[in-house]
Amino acid sequence: MRVLVTGAGGFVGAKLTEALARRNVAVGAASARPLSHPPHGANTIGLELDLLRPETIRQALRTFRPDAVVHLAAQSTVSESWERPDVTIRTNTLGTIELLKALKDEAPGAVVLTAGSSEEYGASGMLGIPLTEEAPCMPQNPYAVSKYAAGQIALQFARKQRLHLIHVRPFNHFGPGQKRGFVVADFISQIVAIERGLREPVMSVGDLSAERDFTYVDDVVEAYIQLIERKPDPGIYNVCSGIPRTIESLLTLLLRQSSVPIGVRRDESKRRPAEVKLFVGSAAKLAAATGWIPATKVEAGLTETLQWWRLHF
Ligand code: GDD
Repeated sequence: MRVLVTGAGGFVGAKLTEALARRNVAVGAASARPLSHPPHGANTIGLELDLLRPETIRQALRTFRPDAVVHLAAQSTVSESWERPDVTIRTNTLGTIELLKALKDEAPGAVVLTAGSSEEYGASGMLGIPLTEEAPCMPQNPYAVSKYAAGQIALQFARKQRLHLIHVRPFNHFGPGQKRGFVVADFISQIVAIERGLREPVMSVGDLSAERDFTYVDDVVEAYIQLIERKPDPGIYNVCSGIPRTIESLLTLLLRQSSVPIGVRRDESKRRPAEVKLFVGSAAKLAAATGWIPATKVEAGLTETLQWWRLHF
């Protein structure tokens, strides 16, 4: 199999290209900017692909000739989408449309996995039940709108063009290599800075009452690989644990592992407009199609991530 990964330099993209390379799959590691770490493995090549420059998409597809495309490149943070809604829509929605147009001409037989988000469900999160793929989507922020629109257009294109399209809706995920701006990385990076005496022993946090459904990044990567390998029916697939956790409970688990006592201060500037307080999903459809279940407990994943930050701070 020849797999082209967009956003290969990103958090999930880097992990996915490594995991595919370990399986001896030929990987096209596509990124808008040159990768900071050279791609792993003899079977991996780096490709330039900038969603905002459509000619680079076509060139990457022509050069690599993929059987599968995993489209991860995106503006991926909710908070930034409030600051730059235009960039978010341009990158996530219009960029996905450009990719679909190019696929039609350059790789019409490829199986395509587009990364959406649990944020697409938006206000449905407050139903308080594990959301299935049939739950209504009521996106509540520009990021959520951008991913919902991209997913819907991708599914419509796919029906019209007979593309084998799988649109995943990953719920929150975390792990080594995730940048600051996401809750686990924000918390751990502060803990490590405090352990090193680089900041006062008080963490700055946002809304701790929100509940989210967290999966370790390696499990998310495994879900994507299963989906492109097994090619279940086209459509939408949630990727999640089915377990809601308050952000406060994550913080408690992390603070227990700190080597120094740490206080907590609520920072009102981290409060988000129109925040959906609860997201929990059902991955029953994914499990039935591929046998996937998350292998890493959140507690173990947090420990791994903390150790990684201690080594890479
Ligand atoms: N980032 C951050 N930093 N979030 C905090 C903090 C903090 O210091 N304190 C509390 N939170 C709360 C946020 O308000 C939110 O309720 C929750 O922690 C998770 O925030 P994020 O990690 O920023 O994730 P997200 O839920 O907004 O979006 C992430 O998950 C989506 C899938 O559900 C991103 O990874 C998206 O790309 C992804 O699609």
